[in-house]
Amino acid sequence: MNEKIKLDKGDITRLDCDCIVNAANKSLLGGGGVDGAIHRAAGPKLLEECRTLGGCDTGEAKITGGYNLKAKYVIHTVGPVYSGKPSDAEMLSNCYRNSLDLARDNDIHSIAFPAISTGVYGYPLDKAVPIAADTIIKWLEDNKDYEMNVILSCFDAVTYNMYQQYIEN
Ligand code: AR6
Repeated sequence: MNEKIKLDKGDITRLDCDCIVNAANKSLLGGGGVDGAIHRAAGPKLLEECRTLGGCDTGEAKITGGYNLKAKYVIHTVGPVYSGKPSDAEMLSNCYRNSLDLARDNDIHSIAFPAISTGVYGYPLDKAVPIAADTIIKWLEDNKDYEMNVILSCFDAVTYNMYQQYIEN
């Protein structure tokens, strides 16, 4: 496995890294799933800051503070709602790449991603995992001189096993 990528099973909000990524919606005003968990753990100041951002387009990313989280920052990105069109893959890949670029531009050196779009947004896990992993691996190759550690946060065993199989092979 790429030594800069680690898998973690469980709740992303308890991770001690510079930044965690939120699988948000275009409003950036909170929701269910990992978005709800991050807002609950970070506290109401996160929503206050999110209100100032003017939303976010699919595939783009915006950064806020982490407030009550251990992580200093949250990067909010909006995954595609799965439609089966080729543009889904492009937008999902954009989420990972734009989040990593934004992290680098903010001097972040450790970042945790949830499996964006694979919950409420219905992206099949077996299709999302290769896109996420390939995009991250390519970004790390393209940014070899920048120290960046990536955690793939897996909320359940199915996600964990799918990433493990893909990354180790
Ligand atoms: N830690 C890590 N991963 C989690 C956690 C957690 N605490 N909770 C859920 N997951 P989803 P989406 C996993 O639905 O598909 C929200 O309402 C979950 O098991 O959170 O991108 C937003 O506001 C799945 O593997 O995000 C949007 O409206 C992954 O995180 C919409 O859902 C993503 O599931 C975004 O949908």
